[in-house]
Formats: sequence, C-alpha cells, structure tokens
Amino acid sequence: MEGGARGDLGRLVKPWCRPLRVMPRVLRIREILRARGVKGLLRFGFQRLVFRRWNSIVLQDKIGISRQPSVYPEPFRFRIWLKHEQMPVEMRTLVRNSSGGEFLAELDRRDGVWLIEAGENRLAGWGGLYFGSRQVRVLSLPKDAVLLGGGFILPAFRRRGLHRQAVNDAALCLARNGFRHVFSEVHPDNLASLRGLEAAGFERVKQVSLIILLRCVVIDGKRLRRI
Ligand SMILES: CC(C)(COP(=O)(O)OP(=O)(O)OC[C@H]1O[C@@H](n2cnc3c(N)ncnc32)[C@H](O)[C@@H]1OP(=O)(O)O)[C@@H](O)C(=O)NCCC(=O)NCCS
Repeated sequence: MEGGARGDLGRLVKPWCRPLRVMPRVLRIREILRARGVKGLLRFGFQRLVFRRWNSIVLQDKIGISRQPSVYPEPFRFRIWLKHEQMPVEMRTLVRNSSGGEFLAELDRRDGVWLIEAGENRLAGWGGLYFGSRQVRVLSLPKDAVLLGGGFILPAFRRRGLHRQAVNDAALCLARNGFRHVFSEVHPDNLASLRGLEAAGFERVKQVSLIILLRCVVIDGKRLRRI
C-alpha cells in the first residue's frame, strides 16, 4: 500500500475523488479483500451499509493520570503515536507485513496507534486510538471521548500480559495529553480482551445491544435515533 502500489492508485483517482475521501475507502476495500476474500468483503459491506447488530460492553478508564507506566520484559518495547501518520514508514510496513494491513487501512487521519516491538525487526502487537470516530456517536459517549480499540497481539506473544500493559500505557499517554474521557468497547464473548482491559483499570459502564440500519438509524432498545 505504501510506496509503489499506493502511489499508482493515488495518481489514478486522486484529482477528482479526494474531496469525497474515496482513496482511503479504496485502499480499505483492497485490504479487506486481501484478508477476507470476496465473501468476507460482501458480508462486511452488508453489515456496514445495510444491517448491523452491535453488541458490546463499554468500559471507561477510571485511573487516568495516576497510572504507573508498564515495565516490559526484554525484548519488548512499547511505542505510541497520537497521530498514526507520524509513525515511521518502516513501522507501518512491519504492521502491514504482520497481518495488520486492514487495521492500518481502517485508521482515520486523526487516529493514533500503539505497537509493541518484539526485537529482531518483529512486532508483538498493535492497537488504535480513535478520536471522534462514529463509534462515539453510536455508543452515545461524550463528544470528546477517545476509544482504545483494534488491539491485536500476534498468537506467538499472547497470554504474557502484553495487551494489558499496552492498554495501560496507551491510557496513561492519553491522560498525560489531557484526554479525560477514555473508553473501550468489547464484544461480551471476548474474555481475553475484557479481562485485559479490566486488569488495566478500565471499568464497565454499560452494555449495548443495537441494530444499525442503512448506516444512519440506530435501534437501541425501544428507541430509534439517527447518528
Ligand atoms: C485479546 C488479545 C489482544 C489479548 O492479548 P494478550 O496479550 O494475550 O492478553 P493478556 O496476556 O494481556 O491477558 C489479559 C488477561 O486476559 C486473560 N486471557 C488472555 N487470553 C485469554 C483467553 N483466550 N481466554 C480467557 N482469558 C484470557 C489473561 O489471563 C489475563 O487475565 P488476568 O489479568 O486475569 O491474568 C489477544 O488475544 C488478541 O489479539 N485477540 C484477537 C484480537 C482481539 O480480539 N482483539 C480485541 C479487540 S477489542
């Protein structure tokens, strides 16, 4: 996506579609196609554009600035960028080559990224910091809410506490930068993620069960609202 391929696609469509932000969408579709195949892309499109069920537990950071930084065992190293565009190209390539292409393609210009380096030019995992995303409106969170999400630890590095430590450090970084409303949301069946977030000092604030129709109408219990 970086360099050659992205450049070619960019030159092809940029002049007339940039105002519509088509380019990021094209790249995202390409990544989804690559990762999930045609069936996966069609299912994704249906869920995003027509009908989507949304069940999740919403958690909030209750510790903020008084967190202690995590201490990682060798060779792990935590890195964070509040704007993902500041991430060096070689890191972006590493994420993409470690199966994170779709994650990168989903990021908006405003979003940030954390990642954990695992030495020898390898990554252990990554996650996103989402500022002003649609999720904030869908979940009826405060306007200035930041969401930590998209956390992923590569299978070889799981169950060592890395996700819990990274979430702690990402929340600490946000608190130090003045963000007061930090949330995360997790599917109720995702025990690994739920436990990690709770161990990192996030507390459950609500559970939502929504249906989203045509991208703009939310059925939330008996209420109907527009997003
Ligand atoms: C969820 C995920 C990020 C967790 O990463 P991890 O580094 O293995 O998690 P941790 O080692 O920090 O574990 C945190 C807690 O979850 C528990 N846990 C980890 N994997 C678990 C599993 N498969 N089942 C149940 N509990 C689990 C750990 O025991 C630990 O609990 P403890 O603090 O009570 O001991 C990782 O499994 C993953 O990448 N999954 C796929 C992507 C995903 O679901 N992301 C979450 C999106 S919201």
